[in-house]
Amino acid sequence: MAQPRVQGVADPVELLALATSLATDAAQLLRDGLDHVHDVDTKSSLTDMVTASDRASERLVVDGIRRARPDDAILGEEGTADAGTSGVRWVIDPLDGTTNFLYGLPAFAVSIAVEVDGVTEVGVVVDAARGETFTARRGGGAHLDGRPIRCTDAGQLATALVGTGFSYDAARRARQGAVVAQVLPLVRDIRRVGAAAIDLCWVAAGRLDAFYEKGLAPWDLGAGALLASEAGAVVGDLDGGPPSGAFTLAAAPAVFEPLRALLAAHGAGDA
Ligand code: IPD
Ligand code: CA
Ligand code: CA
Repeated sequence: MAQPRVQGVADPVELLALATSLATDAAQLLRDGLDHVHDVDTKSSLTDMVTASDRASERLVVDGIRRARPDDAILGEEGTADAGTSGVRWVIDPLDGTTNFLYGLPAFAVSIAVEVDGVTEVGVVVDAARGETFTARRGGGAHLDGRPIRCTDAGQLATALVGTGFSYDAARRARQGAVVAQVLPLVRDIRRVGAAAIDLCWVAAGRLDAFYEKGLAPWDLGAGALLASEAGAVVGDLDGGPPSGAFTLAAAPAVFEPLRALLAAHGAGDA
């Protein structure tokens, strides 16, 4: 797909168009890569994997940004760290859901957030297997394939469908397992989709009532957190702050506080 050239302009509409175009092309690259996923290395632990497709997807997105906007900063999970001078920063997860991708499970995505002066203005998540494109602009609402989406109007924790995720670190995982054991009896059910960007978009689209995870990276949560909040969900940490690696919770408004209190009571922030 031909990418627009928007050098020097920080117009969110143009940033969103570029992000969407690049994420769409990268998602196609991931689909094409499903046939040769044997090229695998590990990163932080035996279970933290990276494939040739993760790297090729990042290369495609980064090359496109550098061509269109050479003065922007870029942070990519697979190693890109351009400093930039324009005040615009791109935060990229070139393949969120690598484990799903490796096993052929249909939940993996390209996630791109664009910050202007430190504030996330644009988020795009392309679910490569389903061919769904989630987009948001700050103050402009959230959309799925161009149609507006809203979070659920879930009224109580007891009937909330809650997504979560687990770290690649075994010790942290054990603590996260202890927390989820406390949550499970008090909610409708738990889902572990395996791609945090998709989890957050599913809160935005009303497919989950809530999602939480400790230890996410900026590229996991940047786009999805904007999607969820633009769709009406409450998004934050456990202490009244914005979502971060310390903790990310996104929930339908009435579910946020009871779930936040439950998670805090069980030490989810220390997990
Ligand atoms: C992971 C996925 C997973 C989440 C992990 C992330 P990756 O990202 O989003 O659902 O639980 O914390 O690291 O490694 O597939 O890009
Ligand atoms: Ca990720
Ligand atoms: Ca990734």
